[in-house]
Amino acid sequence: DFQLPLAGRKVTISAGGTREPLDPVRFLGNRSSGKQGVALAVAARNAGATVRLIAAHMDVPAPAGVDVVRVETALQLREAALAAAADSDVVIMAAAVADFRPAEVSGTKIKKRDDTADPVITLVRNPDILQELVEARSAPGNEAARRHQLIVGFAAETGDGQGDVVAYAEAKLKRKGCDLLVVNHVGTDKVFGQDTNSVVILARSGAEPQEAAGSKSEVSAAVITRVGHELNHVSP
Ligand code: C5P
Repeated sequence: DFQLPLAGRKVTISAGGTREPLDPVRFLGNRSSGKQGVALAVAARNAGATVRLIAAHMDVPAPAGVDVVRVETALQLREAALAAAADSDVVIMAAAVADFRPAEVSGTKIKKRDDTADPVITLVRNPDILQELVEARSAPGNEAARRHQLIVGFAAETGDGQGDVVAYAEAKLKRKGCDLLVVNHVGTDKVFGQDTNSVVILARSGAEPQEAAGSKSEVSAAVITRVGHELNHVSP
């Protein structure tokens, strides 16, 4: 019998870039287009999964045939991701989550006046959602239901004189505790908004790093195929 690799699986994917408000008309944002997350959602849907897409700001439309939850900020994305994780077999964090948000959000538009000093914006850290998802999986009460849940992170690394991209990514994988980390090697003109990508998939299990390159759809297909293998390995 022919069966799609993710038939019957529930997959939650976050995509796009969060926007952190400063006042009613301004925000701090990032250049994430949402293309990679959307391509992953399409690949997971085509593999037979029931897909929930948690969409922060995206330059591309959400695909057909997936359940879309719109969010704006990192805190909203966290709420949506933690809620969706409760009944997900797989959670993929492809969103570019702002590491910091303005400490205070002005209820009214911040005014420019000649007689006042230049404004200073104080930032506070956002929670690391990927790490919280890993913690939630093994929290008392969740442990039994989520034993086989697979959690996948993304990382954009630049590498520098101190260490190479894979070494940095391996440290990140350990720190975050996710099962797979999909690592992009980024330069200034690469990845953001582009249609192609080149990644290395690292596994917590210590399996050999797997390379995948091509269009964001091809990379997504490789990631989803790998997810299918991991799921069937732990829960045949
Ligand atoms: O630490 P870094 O931002 O490089 O980690 C990237 C990964 O962590 C991505 O999967 C991203 O979605 C996730 N992340 C998160 N919460 C944050 C920052 C990043 O879940 N506050």
